Amino acid sequence: MQMMLTNNPSHKKISFLSPASVIIAFMINNPITAIAHPNIAFIKYWGNRNQALRLPANGSISMNLAGLETRTTVTVDAALPADSLTLNGQALHGPPLERVSAFLDVVRGMAGIDGYAHVSSENNFPMGAGIASSAAAFAALSLAASAAYGLSLDEAALSRLARHGSGSACRSVPGGFVEWLAGDGDATSYAASIAPADHWLLADCVAVVAAGHKTVGSTAGHTLAGSSPLQNARLAQAEERLTLCRQAILGRDFDALAEVVELDSNLMHAVMMTSTPPLFYWQPATLGIMQAVEAWRSQGLPVCYTIDAGPNVHVLCPREKAAEVQQRLAAMPGVQQVLTAHAGGRAHLLSGSPNH
Ligand code: PMV
Repeated sequence: MQMMLTNNPSHKKISFLSPASVIIAFMINNPITAIAHPNIAFIKYWGNRNQALRLPANGSISMNLAGLETRTTVTVDAALPADSLTLNGQALHGPPLERVSAFLDVVRGMAGIDGYAHVSSENNFPMGAGIASSAAAFAALSLAASAAYGLSLDEAALSRLARHGSGSACRSVPGGFVEWLAGDGDATSYAASIAPADHWLLADCVAVVAAGHKTVGSTAGHTLAGSSPLQNARLAQAEERLTLCRQAILGRDFDALAEVVELDSNLMHAVMMTSTPPLFYWQPATLGIMQAVEAWRSQGLPVCYTIDAGPNVHVLCPREKAAEVQQRLAAMPGVQQVLTAHAGGRAHLLSGSPNH
């Protein structure tokens, strides 16, 4: 049922009558905090079948990254004249706020509640440089906002909701190793866990070669994918690569994983580089690291690389090799810092928040 929050000083008054009213009234002004990890795609999502709904051109597989996290608090407050957003303590306006507000509109529509919210988000990792900050951000926002507006959603519904904010965010809702089923419509396009985080103790050593914001973000990038003559070739064998990747994860077969992960990343970047206009996310240091990783692997070190929409290189390896890989990467030219993450769990509400 539609519920109206009055916009006056006694804003906690709500003009509605429903059995759930007491619970919902309790939630008004009650800040709800959620935590989510970014994820690194092993099989990439690039291009949409439906841009507005973010229905992907192909399924994808990723691993959540514990150690890197976004913490988001949503406070619904009927006294607010509009939604507001702070990121790492700074108030944001314009496109970032509009994107969050459009997302909150989806949540308000589902809840049947009007009333603006303040969203406060903090990341412990650099944003806008291929470390999927939007994935963690919208996964955390899905949990916090849906709870703040009184919704109780299961994991698949939360994942679908997160997809509306950022496609890859749907993969940061479930835990561990996760597959986003492309689906054939809004109802069937969501992510589910293939294996829990402790199934395979993998690490991701992220060699940061640039921590600034990229010039073309992934939302704009997805719209260009279809202009590359290589996109159809990439899509034609996506199912095969998904199967190989799933099997490699389930069988903890690092060599098989390395082969399919590097191929899939290179295919996506080939599409990016051949779209109109072309997108070159790599920097010279990026290629240097890719070549070094290949050389290390041929010398017997279990490592492989994968790169999202940015110049930073994610170097995957078994956890016991992470210290060595981190040390080697830090010594490479152009590497500003190395962030090391491990297979991580699902997005969750902070304990103390209702519904956690
Ligand atoms: O979810 P988006 O719109 O930020 O797109 C993510 C695209 C890549 O990071 C390049 C690949 C992926 O599957 O995460």
